[in-house]
Amino acid sequence: MNNCSDLSLIVSQYDPRQVFVVIDSALELCPDYKNQNYSNISELVNITSGFPTLCLEAKEMNKTLKTVEQIWNFLFDHHATRKALLINIGGGIICDLGGFAASTYKRGIDYVNIPTTLLSMSDAAWGGKTGFNYRGMKNAIGVIRQPKATLIFPSWLDTLSEQEKLSGYAEIIKCGLLKDSTTFHTILRALEDRDYVNGIAVAVEVKQSVVREDPNEQSLRKVLNLGHSVGHAIEELGIRNASGTKYTQGVIPHGYAVLYGLVAMAYLSHILLGLDRRIVTTLSHIMVEYYGRMPFQCKDYKEIINLMYCDKKNEHEGEIRMVLLRHIGEPVTDQIVHEEELMESLEYLFSL
Ligand SMILES: NC(=O)c1ccc[n+]([C@@H]2O[C@H](COP(=O)([O-])OP(=O)(O)OC[C@H]3O[C@@H](n4cnc5c(N)ncnc54)[C@H](O)[C@@H]3O)[C@@H](O)[C@H]2O)c1
Repeated sequence: MNNCSDLSLIVSQYDPRQVFVVIDSALELCPDYKNQNYSNISELVNITSGFPTLCLEAKEMNKTLKTVEQIWNFLFDHHATRKALLINIGGGIICDLGGFAASTYKRGIDYVNIPTTLLSMSDAAWGGKTGFNYRGMKNAIGVIRQPKATLIFPSWLDTLSEQEKLSGYAEIIKCGLLKDSTTFHTILRALEDRDYVNGIAVAVEVKQSVVREDPNEQSLRKVLNLGHSVGHAIEELGIRNASGTKYTQGVIPHGYAVLYGLVAMAYLSHILLGLDRRIVTTLSHIMVEYYGRMPFQCKDYKEIINLMYCDKKNEHEGEIRMVLLRHIGEPVTDQIVHEEELMESLEYLFSL
């Protein structure tokens, strides 16, 4: 966890006329932010308020090239040079978009992430993956470029909805599955107590140790995609079918889709690698109890499978590769999964 002097120290290394802020408009409008009710956040506001600021609406539908252009134009309009710093304040959408715009503006300027959602504190703001959605595909265009720093202030979570906290917690559960059984069960107990904050450190430790070893996802980093193959397809289907569902943004929150993907992954891991059936049951229980059943009917599982064929993580056309689990703490990458097996896992997921 950080304090504001960490940001002051970073900012002091730049010409103050060359520091820029991109912020989620929900935070700018948020009364707690404006009234500076939180001590460290008010300090943060003081540090950043003098810099040119661009407010963006953080919606998955806006995670587009058009919004990236808006950030590029903002930087050009303010004569940002190659020595500029961009501070991204927001959830995963702002960090991904701001990170991409910074990584490509004049071949790359420095950026700092200040994540404000549980999902971005525990996952999206770390590891340097940036990008935007294209042709209906999640994060289809992007680059990997590490932020100068990621600064965590948990008090942002005080204004975050329960739904968004659960969304973030799915990535923490994923990291528990990647680490070990004790951590996984501690994380699940914390969920029962609605203690969302303690898991952040575990998730960051898991992600950072993997990214340090394989920053460009040549091998080990693939394990972080656990649950994401089915998850991304469900999320994309949600974006295509978006029509005012129960979710705040009208589309399935990223972490909910990941949690559904983890259930399907666990089912496949059980039938293909002998993962203990109790893990499938535990994850199914968590899903029904906290995240709810699948939010839409799927008459045609082929639609989800077709989306999975387009997953950018597949290395060869016409096959689907996934990360599966042999045991908790023992992920196996590049597992080729056949359509019939996927169909079976989706039937299971949709039957819960
Ligand atoms: N780059 C990566 O490694 C990586 C990893 C995981 C997810 N992602 C991406 O992250 C995105 C999801 O991130 P997210 O869940 O943070 O979404 P988000 O940025 O859309 O934030 C979710 C919602 O919370 C609101 N919000 C943000 N901070 C708030 C606060 N403190 N109080 C109240 N409301 C607040 C936002 O306005 C938005 O409505 C997806 O696009 C996903 O693809 C990226």
